[in-house]
Amino acid sequence: MNKVKIKIENLYKIFGPKAENYIQVVRDGTDKDELLAKYNHVLGLDNINLDIYDQSIQVVMGLSGSGKSTLIRHINRLIEPTEGVVLVDDQDVTRFDKNELLDFRRTRTGMVFQRFGLFPHQNIIENVKLGLSIKGVDKSESNETAMYWIDKVGLNGFEFKFPNQLSGGMQQRVGLARALATDPDILLMDEAFSALDPLIRSDMQDQLLDLQKNLKKTIVFITHDLDEALKLGDSIAILNGGKLVQNGKPEDILLNPADDYVEKFVQDVNRAKVLKVKSIMNKKNQPNDAPKINMNDSIESCLPTILETRATLSVVDDDNNIIGSISDKEVASILRSN
Ligand SMILES: Nc1ncnc2c1ncn2[C@@H]1O[C@H](COP(=O)(O)OP(=O)(O)O)[C@@H](O)[C@H]1O
Ligand SMILES: [Mg+2]
Repeated sequence: MNKVKIKIENLYKIFGPKAENYIQVVRDGTDKDELLAKYNHVLGLDNINLDIYDQSIQVVMGLSGSGKSTLIRHINRLIEPTEGVVLVDDQDVTRFDKNELLDFRRTRTGMVFQRFGLFPHQNIIENVKLGLSIKGVDKSESNETAMYWIDKVGLNGFEFKFPNQLSGGMQQRVGLARALATDPDILLMDEAFSALDPLIRSDMQDQLLDLQKNLKKTIVFITHDLDEALKLGDSIAILNGGKLVQNGKPEDILLNPADDYVEKFVQDVNRAKVLKVKSIMNKKNQPNDAPKINMNDSIESCLPTILETRATLSVVDDDNNIIGSISDKEVASILRSN
């Protein structure tokens, strides 16, 4: 397991003029609706504790207004907490002075927004260079770096176009290239793909996963879309009314939803498609004369073989070692509980 990169501890955010005065009533159990009705303050975050691991994609999911943007904006302190701590590499972001904070934002974090946030009167290469110019990188080096990232996100040839000459998907690629150009170790993506058409959105998800194989950034990715969360997340945190109700691997969320709210999110998901073989295999049975299937394949993909051959399949890891088995029994139990 990688080290914890971002550690969020006892984080509260209350919006309103006397926020500090209401920490205690929230601690005593006042929820978001009640805080608004009785005290006219908005509960943004209610005692969030979350460890985000280095080089992982942490998804944060929840309905609109549940506190996702408020949470991600605490990581680079675009929002000041009412109480609590955000540690990045064991450094307390909430205690940075002005210069330390600026430096932290410029060099260690990159942000990608839903509405791209490009400068309309600057061409693509200038937009991508933005963070490098702010950092004071000289012109030829920043041109070179910007071109590298423009190429990486598949926009070679578009560097002198302007944002409005590009489609939404391409503009978001520019946003991504810009965030990556300063080589931050943390990428903060707030509904970054939510404004894109489904097919383009899916392409962007694939591209992000592909880039991440080599980049190995710590990515905090916000979405209200479960399919996106399941596809991208190494871990998925679910917020409801400012509270963290569950954080776990995609299969934990699907197989053991913590409450009705999470259950509602996952009820319509096709589990056979999303769950990997390894999450339901029988580890005790490791047959070496059976047809093989990779542990990371979806359950759906092994269904035809199981149905056709009526056989138990051996589950193998990436080195082709047999680590378990899967048969109609395991598959049926998953499909039945759907
Ligand atoms: N500056 C603010 N002042 C008052 N309330 C705010 C402010 N920012 C966010 N909120 C409230 O905090 C809650 C969480 O908002 P937000 O984090 O934007 O939710 P999400 O990103 O999940 O849609 C919402 O009820 C929202 O209205
Ligand atoms: Mg939001």
